[in-house]
Amino acid sequence: MKPAPQTFHIKSFGCQMNVYDGERMAELMGAQGMVAAEADVADLVVLNTCHIREKATEKVYSDIGRLRKDQLRNHGRTPMIAVAGCVAQAEGEEIVRRANVDVVVGPQAYHNLPTLVAQAATGQAALDTDLPALTKFGHLPPRRRVSPSAFQTVQEGCDKFCTYCVVPYTRGAEVSRPFAAIVDEAKGLVDAGAREITLLGQNVNAWRMEDRGLHDLIRALDRVPGLARIRYTTSHPNDMSQGLIDAHRDVESLMPFLHLPVQSGSDRVLKAMNRAHTRDSYLRLIERVRAARPDIALSGDFIVGFPGETDAEFAETLSLVDSAGYAQAFSFKYSPRPGTPAATLAGQIPADVMDDRLQRLQAALNRDQHVFNAASVGSTCPVLIERRGKLSGQMLGKSPWLQSVHVMGDLAVGDLVEVTLTAAGPNSLTGERRPI
Ligand code: 5AD
Ligand code: SF4
Repeated sequence: MKPAPQTFHIKSFGCQMNVYDGERMAELMGAQGMVAAEADVADLVVLNTCHIREKATEKVYSDIGRLRKDQLRNHGRTPMIAVAGCVAQAEGEEIVRRANVDVVVGPQAYHNLPTLVAQAATGQAALDTDLPALTKFGHLPPRRRVSPSAFQTVQEGCDKFCTYCVVPYTRGAEVSRPFAAIVDEAKGLVDAGAREITLLGQNVNAWRMEDRGLHDLIRALDRVPGLARIRYTTSHPNDMSQGLIDAHRDVESLMPFLHLPVQSGSDRVLKAMNRAHTRDSYLRLIERVRAARPDIALSGDFIVGFPGETDAEFAETLSLVDSAGYAQAFSFKYSPRPGTPAATLAGQIPADVMDDRLQRLQAALNRDQHVFNAASVGSTCPVLIERRGKLSGQMLGKSPWLQSVHVMGDLAVGDLVEVTLTAAGPNSLTGERRPI
């Protein structure tokens, strides 16, 4: 028997969906009367995990060991440990066997966390990795206080089955939340302090409700009073409809930013990845988006070292980067994931080759990011202030193009102010509030 926990700590790894899920779990535990605490003192620690690459998965096990050791050394006891998120979904009971944790709860079942914690307090490990689509949303408490830039899950799961990816297995099939529920929730988020909402989904641009698509949802949210900015992530190139492209032209509150993963610039590799788009169709798509919204900032995801990737194929990824012009991007070394088709392909790439390719790709992407940031110096744009900066009097916000901007001055979190950009670094800009 462990005493029922009074305090909790939630640590989220991985994507923005996990950040969102972590916030919702915190609200759920708060509604049970539990109080948030630091990881080294909390009675219950929830590790909200990521399974996308091997490193992320292994981190869970090392974290569990460290948490136990720290609390044992400092307080003479160990915390109750719950593993949530995609590792919980993928590994289930194996986690209880390997790490003897108290609770395992998958990403579609975390509304049951209080019940599972109560069961674990009786000394019995509690497990729930059911995948009932969307059930959890009906069981979560309303959101009372959110940051000016809030996340809202509108779609979950993936039917694309890229051959390297675990998401279709850990998050299940593509499902969309209902239109009216999303609009109502968005109004609630604005009442709770949001001025910007980022619509989240593993394939957010596949959101669909009868004959409505994501662009209809965006147009409806554009009419929510007090909501100044709308963003969405992550998108698949094949779900980028003309309606959504048009929304980028017409809807002022839709920010000029598009995260559109491409993964590789080689058609052979894209085919082996089962991406269902080509290098050329991707580049043509970007041209259409830019025709609708010329200043759009493009972001992407890349994988280097997919099985069988040759030097020449990798060079095609570098040349795609030159052609597409990214404002920012994420790039990863291929990581074989158990149960995915690519994990058993011949031609796995040696680590040193992968390291070299990643370094070269990141050098190109960093160069382009710096160029993009430097090009905005001297211009003036609205910045949504999200939090305090490290220096006294300094605030940190975001430009429409998702650049981080440091601004000095008498500003509050949630202010949306005009800022003249004065200097660019590789990862952020500095600006001055434009005198009124
Ligand atoms: N190995 C490396 N990167 C991966 N991603 C997904 N699966 C893997 C994997 N097995 C990357 C893709 C995806 C992003 C979220 O993570 O680039 O777009
Ligand atoms: Fe994974 Fe591909 Fe689905 Fe993205 S589209 S979540 S990379 S399977």
